[in-house]
Amino acid sequence: MTLRTDVIIIGAGPAGLLLSQLLHLGGVQSVIVERTTRDRVLARIRAGVLERGTIEAMAEAECDARLQAERIDHDGVILGFDGELFEIPISDITGHKVTVYGQTEITLDLIEACEARGQQIFWNCPDSVLDRVTTGTPIIRFSGEQGAVEIEGRFAAGCDGFRGISRNTIPQSERHEYEREYPFGWLGALVDEPPVAHNVIYANHEEGFALASMRSETRSRYYEQTAPGEKVDDWPIEKFWDTFTRRLGTYGERVKTGEPLEMSIAPLRSYVSEPMAYGSLFLAGDAAHIVPPTGAKGLNLAFADTRRLARALIAQFKGNDKLLSNYSAEALARVWKVERFSWYLTSMMHQFPDHSPFKKKMQRAEFDYIISSEAGQKMIAENYVGLDF
Ligand code: APR
Ligand code: PHB
Repeated sequence: MTLRTDVIIIGAGPAGLLLSQLLHLGGVQSVIVERTTRDRVLARIRAGVLERGTIEAMAEAECDARLQAERIDHDGVILGFDGELFEIPISDITGHKVTVYGQTEITLDLIEACEARGQQIFWNCPDSVLDRVTTGTPIIRFSGEQGAVEIEGRFAAGCDGFRGISRNTIPQSERHEYEREYPFGWLGALVDEPPVAHNVIYANHEEGFALASMRSETRSRYYEQTAPGEKVDDWPIEKFWDTFTRRLGTYGERVKTGEPLEMSIAPLRSYVSEPMAYGSLFLAGDAAHIVPPTGAKGLNLAFADTRRLARALIAQFKGNDKLLSNYSAEALARVWKVERFSWYLTSMMHQFPDHSPFKKKMQRAEFDYIISSEAGQKMIAENYVGLDF
């Protein structure tokens, strides 16, 4: 079977789904090809804090009805150091709220919108090959449920995450990669108990970082810093609660402990691959960059790229090629600012095994400066709530 479309979208994660929805509303056709099944895409547990730009993008995509009904808005975020906790009044400083809504829910809302309008999504295609990206007719080939499928597009959008195929279609000689791996991971636990505080808490403690977040008024999402190589089995639940409650300082004794619905460990990494465009291929989201989860920027950054790419592609089909030729440079300018903030918050809030006593003092001085300075708090607040899309 051979199909033709305007834009081939590789990956049905948040970036690919939002792109197809925005393109559709702008009169541009697309086909989505996803490596795994719909169920597996929806089983991924991800962060839960949305920037204002992400909420605007969901409204622009006409997919925000459930988000508006179920969102939990916060006016601040709490930072803690060695048991001392401080609230940064985000809304007072920026005029915007911080919104909690699970990123898995965002994915579901987008899938349902795509399905409702008959968007073609090929699920469960693990063997796709992307070809001819240096020409004006890129092609993707894979074996679908009914046999071999070939889709020819005018453009290809690589929205296939960090482990996808799109980025590697760009020759190594044309790419620059920038990477930082952190000497720790995060152990996350999802618990059906009310959250310990209304706001999200990020705490640096001599035993390691802890984060208290939520999914609803009755479901909490908690994380702790783990040592490299540690496995979930190294963390029996009694140990998790014991260290978590200590790390959270005065909030610790209020934590409602319970049996987690899920526990998993994720590594922390900063990564950027430049450029984000090559021939008729354009990358968006985790396909081009990774941020450590501190600050919950991954999906938000993917949405910022995607909204920019959708506008550029829609303009291109109307005869204006300027936005698409500037896409990579303009997207990367924002990407690096978000990389900086995610790295900064990670660096300030974790225990680094290789830190000298001097570096430990610097970290503490950074925290003390932030909480005592209007300028310092403003820097955190405007990045946390999100830079302009
Ligand atoms: N062919 C087709 N699809 C692929 C391929 C491939 N070869 N490789 C990967 N994919 C799919 C993945 O299965 C996944 O569903 O691409 C999708 C990429 O989705 P994400 O990894 O979620 O990346 P993105 O859409 O950029 O979202 C970025 O959102 O969910 C958060 O933590 C995530 O911060 C990240 C952000
Ligand atoms: C989450 O709710 O899962 C979450 C919140 C804030 C973060 C990271 C993850 O910085």
